[in-house]
Amino acid sequence: MNSKKSLYKRMVLTISLLCTATILLILGLFSVMLKSIRASADNAFLLHNIFLGISIALLIGLYVLVYFHIKRLFKPMQEIKKAVETVAEGDFDLQIPIRRADEFGELSASFNRMAGEIQSMLKYKDQLLSDVSHELRTPITRMRLAAEMMEAGKEKDSMISDLKDMSHLIENLLESNRLNYGASSLHKEPFNLTELIASMAQEQAERKPGIRFQTTQAITIKADFSLIRMLFRNLIENALKYSSHQEIPVAIDISQAGDEVEVSISDHGTGIPEEALSKVFEPFYRVEQSRSKHTGGYGLGLSISQKVTEAHQGQISINNRKGGGIEVIVRLPSS
Ligand SMILES: Nc1ncnc2c1ncn2[C@@H]1O[C@H](COP(=O)(O)OP(=O)(O)OP(=O)(O)O)[C@@H](O)[C@H]1O
Ligand SMILES: [Mg+2]
Repeated sequence: MNSKKSLYKRMVLTISLLCTATILLILGLFSVMLKSIRASADNAFLLHNIFLGISIALLIGLYVLVYFHIKRLFKPMQEIKKAVETVAEGDFDLQIPIRRADEFGELSASFNRMAGEIQSMLKYKDQLLSDVSHELRTPITRMRLAAEMMEAGKEKDSMISDLKDMSHLIENLLESNRLNYGASSLHKEPFNLTELIASMAQEQAERKPGIRFQTTQAITIKADFSLIRMLFRNLIENALKYSSHQEIPVAIDISQAGDEVEVSISDHGTGIPEEALSKVFEPFYRVEQSRSKHTGGYGLGLSISQKVTEAHQGQISINNRKGGGIEVIVRLPSS
């Protein structure tokens, strides 16, 4: 680094100059005072006061100058602080402009390099995840076909259920990876949401405790069809999975108010402890690992559902119901 432009040297120089000027002014003041005492001339008092006034004004001026100079020297600190906060929020696109060749300039350049490297590592990880998930799709479909041909029995059922879980996980991973590329990755198209939910409820008609969905009003929304299908598949799957021991069916309701569509899915299942309600949207979080072991799953469904809803500028919330079980409410803009 150019030693003349070192921030440290500039600071030392500024402070040395300030100290020297202060000492010189104080020495000057003392000598004027001594002279005026010795001479005790008529105008000595006036001379002394003028010199004192000029010295104080010069000192104040000098301090103001030094204040602004130091402020200017440390200005990049604000930019670096803002950049660190932006990166902490997960935005790695930001680059700090490099305007100086001192330590701050060097720090900004290192920061930009680091943000770039993290961004490319994350891209590489996403690409790897996406490629691996993609490659696994075909063999899993083939294994499912083979499993369907096995002799009926416990082994066949458990193999089919495991393979189903795996293909759901892969679909979730592939779609959530797509969501990392922001709203631009959404393929929005108008479709009938009532019809979609009705067909999903129909697909699960055989499973306990059943689904009650009686709405006939056609509600059309403009959204990414495959993501919305995945969102409701995850929620319906959860409702059935965690209330399979119950007699009362899962209730799904859909309504529209102005530009907003609301879908509510209520079950009478296990419910979620109040303290866990805020955590269930975190990836890989599962309430009571031991209980969840029997139900299977990876703890990804709700985190992906939240991502999908937010990518569509909607909201998702979960509440425990008074009579047991939970109610999930999804609100989506209709266009
Ligand atoms: N309807 C529900 N009733 C009771 N608990 C629920 C319900 N839905 C979700 N949970 C709890 O929230 C946790 C997180 O749900 P999430 O859908 O993200 O994961 P999962 O169902 O365990 O696995 P995955 O969806 O990845 O197959 C679940 O493990 C479960 O403990
Ligand atoms: Mg789930």
